[in-house]
Amino acid sequence: MTTPSAERGQWSSRVGFILAAAGSAIGLGNIWRFPYITGQNGGAAFVVIYLLCVVLICLPYLLAELVLGRHTQKNPVGAIRLLRPGSPWIGVGVLCVLTGVGILSYYAVIAGWTFGYIFKNLLFAHLDFGHFVASPWIVVPLFAVFLGLTMWVVFGGVEQGIERWSKVLMPLLVLLMAVLIVRSVTLPGAEKGLAFYLKPDFSKVTPGVVMAALGQAFFSLSLGMGAMITYGSYLSRREDVVASGAYVALFDTLVALMAGFMIFPAVFATGHDPASGPRLVFVVLPEIFQTLPLGGLLGALFFLLLSIAALTSTISLLEVVVAYFVDERRWSRKRSVWVVGVLTFLIGLPSALSQGTVEGLTRMDWLVGEEGFLGQHDFLSIMDALWGNLALALGALLLSVFIGWVWGAEKAAQELQQGSQISPGLLRIWQVFIRYICPVVILIILVNVLRGYLG
Ligand code: TRP
Repeated sequence: MTTPSAERGQWSSRVGFILAAAGSAIGLGNIWRFPYITGQNGGAAFVVIYLLCVVLICLPYLLAELVLGRHTQKNPVGAIRLLRPGSPWIGVGVLCVLTGVGILSYYAVIAGWTFGYIFKNLLFAHLDFGHFVASPWIVVPLFAVFLGLTMWVVFGGVEQGIERWSKVLMPLLVLLMAVLIVRSVTLPGAEKGLAFYLKPDFSKVTPGVVMAALGQAFFSLSLGMGAMITYGSYLSRREDVVASGAYVALFDTLVALMAGFMIFPAVFATGHDPASGPRLVFVVLPEIFQTLPLGGLLGALFFLLLSIAALTSTISLLEVVVAYFVDERRWSRKRSVWVVGVLTFLIGLPSALSQGTVEGLTRMDWLVGEEGFLGQHDFLSIMDALWGNLALALGALLLSVFIGWVWGAEKAAQELQQGSQISPGLLRIWQVFIRYICPVVILIILVNVLRGYLG
């Protein structure tokens, strides 16, 4: 049961694993979602809480998902079924799969915008974002193309090729971000943006802000829906899970922080509203490019690299769902990819039409009231809050209870120790985190948010 079967394959090296896991983690979550959520939640204080969540909750929890995967060599449903056959815990695995579809449905819409912006930067620089995103004949085909690309990669098993490419391209993306940061912080009026991003004002922190920070940390690290269980299942016993996991968390966080330095000075220098929601980076970035020589070309390059970063993330989302149907329902890979892909397209359509195309989807106050759902009003952002925030936190809560109490922190710690240099003291501390701190803190935050929501 614990020896990996030959057909499943394993990462060829530790670096291979780190790159693939970082490829899943680094994506639109860092560059699109982190600035938009930070902007809506007041800036610096949110960033501080976000960093605390990454270190105190997400890092220990990431290790737990990885060891569960490595131990069972299975997808989330299979892993739980193997350890507790026939128990209601299987439901948690099913929640993971549903969350995968939920996130992919709107994530691929944003990825479609990103893809379209490659060409917009080169050919239609004058087209403004509001028109672009409200044109169904533009956004729906882009969404379909991006989802199709993801399906093609997951179906054709060409992930390896993509990973080899992203080894070169992701450092290039980071380099280009560094250039944009320099431009952004030297724009006149940039100081206000830096203050917004770096000077915390804790008086504005509400349970909603803390929830957003926790959800963003899970989202950015691809946690709470079993993606890292699946990735861990390809790891060998010789691998140091602790060090690898720490690297992934570090890289992911650095890229998110860089995105903030790139966006916020420019937001204030160009007079935009930091709380403008999902469109934030799409309206602000082109303004930075306009002030650079060869801006159109640089812009196209940036959005090309970002599309590839998004692709390595959508692959991991679709992979979890497909692995479930292949491993647990005995569907063929082809059938799984087609069924999940078409279903995801249908579920994603309202998101694609929710940025000005259909009024009832753009402002859903008829459903969620004037307060919005976790402060969100359009269909896409509501899906994002529901799946990309709440469902991930709930998934992580249940999985940390499963790993810490049902499978058992001791067994998990034994698995963690294999191949790692972690000291016995740290290992004990980790057990305390996975059993008590992670589930209790997540529960407190969830309860507070729901209480505020129910009045
Ligand atoms: N972490 C990715 C990003 O930041 C998105 C993502 C990929 C994801 N797989 C996931 C989020 C699994 C949650 C769960 O863009």
